[in-house]
Amino acid sequence: MPGPPGDVLVTFPGAPDAGGFSVTLPLDGASFRYTMGHFATGVTVMTTTAGERMHGMTVSAFASISLEPLLVMVSVERSTVMHELVAQSGAFAINVLGERSESTARFFADNVRLAAPEFREGGFRLGITGSPILSEASGYLEATVHGTQDAGDHTIIVGKVVALEIVTEEEPLIYYRSGYRSLD
Ligand SMILES: Cc1cc2nc3c(=O)[nH]c(=O)nc-3n(C[C@H](O)[C@H](O)[C@H](O)COP(=O)(O)O)c2cc1C
Repeated sequence: MPGPPGDVLVTFPGAPDAGGFSVTLPLDGASFRYTMGHFATGVTVMTTTAGERMHGMTVSAFASISLEPLLVMVSVERSTVMHELVAQSGAFAINVLGERSESTARFFADNVRLAAPEFREGGFRLGITGSPILSEASGYLEATVHGTQDAGDHTIIVGKVVALEIVTEEEPLIYYRSGYRSLD
């Protein structure tokens, strides 16, 4: 059982003689990250173009919201470059990554990419919102910003879908327990 209110019980599965144990941890960022890591997600690259600047960022906090109208949401950390640029552009694309795109997911999550143009010639085109569409994406959606909601250190951005396409039936790239996986 968890201890005082505010603590959480974390169980490392397995019999005690096989390394399994339970521990009570404080309800904080570390236990939250650890627990949320058990929720498997897909992996996307959110892109936008603000003025002359094209930018992309790896995003897993993406979900569909509404069918009528067609709405999606993405949760973007306030401190990111993306947060600033999508506020300027008012539009974005979500590029869905397949299992062969782990290096792309890593690239768009690493600040090292900011030292040079982020998109290589031939590897993308601009969609109807002006946002980069990655050639390797298994599919994509483009959206205009429909609304935003402050949410702690993130902003939830709701987008109205204006274009979408499935390009290949490649199996998805999965993010689970801080690692990239495929379905097999
Ligand atoms: C698998 C994965 C998923 C991520 N999902 C998100 C996300 O949903 N929202 C977010 O703000 N950052 C997310 N990040 C972190 C950003 O990709 C990372 O901080 C990026 O460098 C920020 O880019 P920018 O500041 O250049 O815009 C994720 C990182 C990884 C590796």
